[in-house]
Amino acid sequence: MDFKDLVQKRRSIRKFTDEPVSEEQLRTILRAALMAPTGHSQRGWHFVVIDDKEKLTALSQCREAGSDFLREAAVAIAVCYDASATDVWVEDASIAAITMQYQITDLGLGSCWCQVRLRSNAAGVSASQTIRQLLGLPDHIEVECVLGIGHPAIERKLQDEDKLNWDCVTR
Ligand SMILES: Cc1cc2nc3c(=O)[nH]c(=O)nc-3n(C[C@H](O)[C@H](O)[C@H](O)COP(=O)(O)O)c2cc1C
Repeated sequence: MDFKDLVQKRRSIRKFTDEPVSEEQLRTILRAALMAPTGHSQRGWHFVVIDDKEKLTALSQCREAGSDFLREAAVAIAVCYDASATDVWVEDASIAAITMQYQITDLGLGSCWCQVRLRSNAAGVSASQTIRQLLGLPDHIEVECVLGIGHPAIERKLQDEDKLNWDCVTR
């Protein structure tokens, strides 16, 4: 698949089969993240891999809504960053996350982004704090998002070329 087709194929997948993601696939996904660009080449990421079912269930409850799909994922990757290292950690972490999502699509797997930064659960506890506690991360490590990953249990349509909002572009 060339990149033009890959960007059209990538859709958020929130339903997964029970089939595990292989170690080789996981390594390929993380390899892509480790090749992502960062401001001043800081590379202050921390990628935490979670495949323990109890932890995935706890992760799925980190937000009032929007995180449920993590319970079904074969594996999740928390995209974290040492925020003391740079003022562009949000950008660095986000670029690594989307780079992994394209790699995941290329492998025939599915993923969805669960937003963590600036989000909280029903009791008002920040999702970042819940995840730091669950994963044993220190306070200076920020959590941008968690990617839920697995074999898709549903097929999503390709992005519709005819519905692209070209009005977003000026020249
Ligand atoms: C910054 C960001 C935050 C997102 N947060 C969530 C989320 O918390 N939960 C969720 O189910 N999807 C989340 N998504 C996925 C979007 O809902 C999805 O990308 C959008 O609806 C477009 O659909 P598509 O990815 O299939 O093209 C997020 C995506 C981005 C880029």
